[in-house]
Amino acid sequence: MEFFLDTADVDEIREIAAWGILDGVTTNPSLIKKSGRDFKTVVAEIAEICSGPISAEVTALDTAGMVEQGKALKADLPDNVIIKIPCTAEGLAATKILTAAGIKTNVTLVFSASQALMAAKAGATYVSPFIGRIDDTGSDGMALIAEIMATWDNYGVTTKVLAASIRHPTHVLACMQLGAHTVTMPTKIFKQLISHPLTDKGLDGFMRDWAEVEAAGNA
Ligand code: G3P
Repeated sequence: MEFFLDTADVDEIREIAAWGILDGVTTNPSLIKKSGRDFKTVVAEIAEICSGPISAEVTALDTAGMVEQGKALKADLPDNVIIKIPCTAEGLAATKILTAAGIKTNVTLVFSASQALMAAKAGATYVSPFIGRIDDTGSDGMALIAEIMATWDNYGVTTKVLAASIRHPTHVLACMQLGAHTVTMPTKIFKQLISHPLTDKGLDGFMRDWAEVEAAGNA
């Protein structure tokens, strides 16, 4: 079970990394835009904060361009950076070539089990089904995770299923129940996963009572 952060905000990544349970980070062109920072600079900084896989996405649409960008990113950035590639026919070919060159990949924008299978056949290290965006269309994103996991079991596929576009904590728990290997989520969801009002209330009570124990000289 791997927990990734889906952000290019280094302050947020530092905050969650300090919890000791952060396994990796995913970025995409929209998240890089939101950071307002230089792409390679911010990915390099993320890769220093978190030693797990850090996804950096190519922006070329043709196979040769994706391979060239992927190799350049690998050459310029720390070792733990992996190459995120869109799930298109051109992306499939690029995944096959980069995998053969020993470069790890994350095939993204996956919206069907057939796309996930094709990416796995190309040797992808990760495939990223976008659960929330499927839910947004009125379909069931979690059903896609179930479908992918079932086909994986039939063939012993080693590509990791990285559930993305996570909207709430129950998405994460449902993914784990279905055996998805990895979930990438915004900082807000990480925080929701650890928070419970009864924990806060219970801790307040313990602290109040302990203050009285100390005041009585019994600590
Ligand atoms: O990593 C990309 C994916 O998680 C996108 O999420 O919220 O833009 O649908 P979202």
